[in-house]
Amino acid sequence: MEKSHIGIYGLGVMGQSLAKNMARNGFAVSAYNKDASFTDRFLANGEIENVRAFYDLESFIDSLSSPRLIFLMVTAGRVVDLVIEELVPYLNAGDVIMDGGNSYFKDTNRRCRDLEEKGVHFLGVGVSGGEMGALWGPSMMPGGNAEAYALAKPILTSICAKTESGFSCCDYIGKEGSGHYVKMVHNGIEYADIQLICEAYHLMRQKGMSPDEIKAVFGKWNQGRLHSYLIEITEKILGVVDEETGLPLIDVILDTAAQKGTGKWTSMESLDMGTPIPTIIEAVCARYLSARKDERVKLSKVFACEKDAEPVTEAFLEDLEQALYCAKICAYAQGFALMADASDAFGWKLDLGRIALLWQAGCIIRADFLVDIHDAFKNSHDNLIASDKFRDAIASGHKAWRRIIASAVLDGTSVPCMMSALSYFDSITCANSPANLLQAQRDFFGAHTYERVDREGSFHTIWE
Ligand code: 6PG
Repeated sequence: MEKSHIGIYGLGVMGQSLAKNMARNGFAVSAYNKDASFTDRFLANGEIENVRAFYDLESFIDSLSSPRLIFLMVTAGRVVDLVIEELVPYLNAGDVIMDGGNSYFKDTNRRCRDLEEKGVHFLGVGVSGGEMGALWGPSMMPGGNAEAYALAKPILTSICAKTESGFSCCDYIGKEGSGHYVKMVHNGIEYADIQLICEAYHLMRQKGMSPDEIKAVFGKWNQGRLHSYLIEITEKILGVVDEETGLPLIDVILDTAAQKGTGKWTSMESLDMGTPIPTIIEAVCARYLSARKDERVKLSKVFACEKDAEPVTEAFLEDLEQALYCAKICAYAQGFALMADASDAFGWKLDLGRIALLWQAGCIIRADFLVDIHDAFKNSHDNLIASDKFRDAIASGHKAWRRIIASAVLDGTSVPCMMSALSYFDSITCANSPANLLQAQRDFFGAHTYERVDREGSFHTIWE
């Protein structure tokens, strides 16, 4: 029997889509799922050219050419460890296990180390783009053993997303869990980007605009510098009517956000690293706030204060576009700053400009904007807001951004991310912060000492 190029372990939606994608690209694929009902469902629609499904693990592994490449598409967490334990006894030195789930990068670090001791290579592969991405071309962020990546590269670069100019959105990120780290930050940025769009929608809605009118605004924005997948799907969403009620579907969807945790991880890592990413953290909090529906409804009655939204004007919509763009720059600047700090701290040598290019197609935050980020990193590794294009955009847009925040505050409309991005901008560009007073307070109550502006050293004052 001819050996397969690669094995897919896990035939959920993502695993099935990746298997089909690999097969369509001419690779012979072996497929396996521990729960046979998944395999049955996978085969239910008939045979797939280049794919063989197996019901027993040993035959699945025997069907692979050597060194074996096994791509796990299973639920992140403990399951990955269990599957690895199950696979290892059948593997030889030099075989490669790849984990395509949203795994926590520290787990990936540990798995890389543990498996290297056994001679088996491990790659943590960030995969973005959901089911359709997996089927037609995801953005892929593989990290781990570089030799193992060289073996997997022909397959991964064939199945990944391509830009119009033919650029492949898959490249080696770095050692250990760096690929999963970069995917985690992608998701953190995704949280902020989504929340910013929701806030723009909320502002327009609070001013009395209908879903159809707002749809037209997003449609217009999508023709300009905000052009992106997330703006595009927002426009589409706002045009969908609920078949049951005849209402815009958006109006029958409950306003409580779910999450699987990668935004929270990004936030937690930033706090550990000491990198300020307030807009991403705020996006996670906004989801938590939304989930407290009962409390919100109750409190909305306690504080039934008048909220008189000023009517919408053309000038307001122009300001809003500027505010959304400037806030977006700051959210991405925070995510990239976190990756820069992680790269230094973990010795990963991340190529930030290259990472921006990997996100141009296939992934959820795909946008033309990422090319500007790539270009910004060509010249400097400073904060993104300092690059020529983004500096000019904020310089010409910040007054509009401030007007939007001011009007949101006066209207009583909650825009936590847009507002936090502006505070980030004002803080990171403020040469003299009030932290001198903070240091004095710490020294006053706890003799924690402070530094002086005029000479080196650590000082303490007897304040009273
Ligand atoms: C992607 C997405 C994906 C993520 C979903 C849902 O890049 O394809 O980031 O990995 O799981 O977007 O995430 P939340 O449930 O946390 O919103």
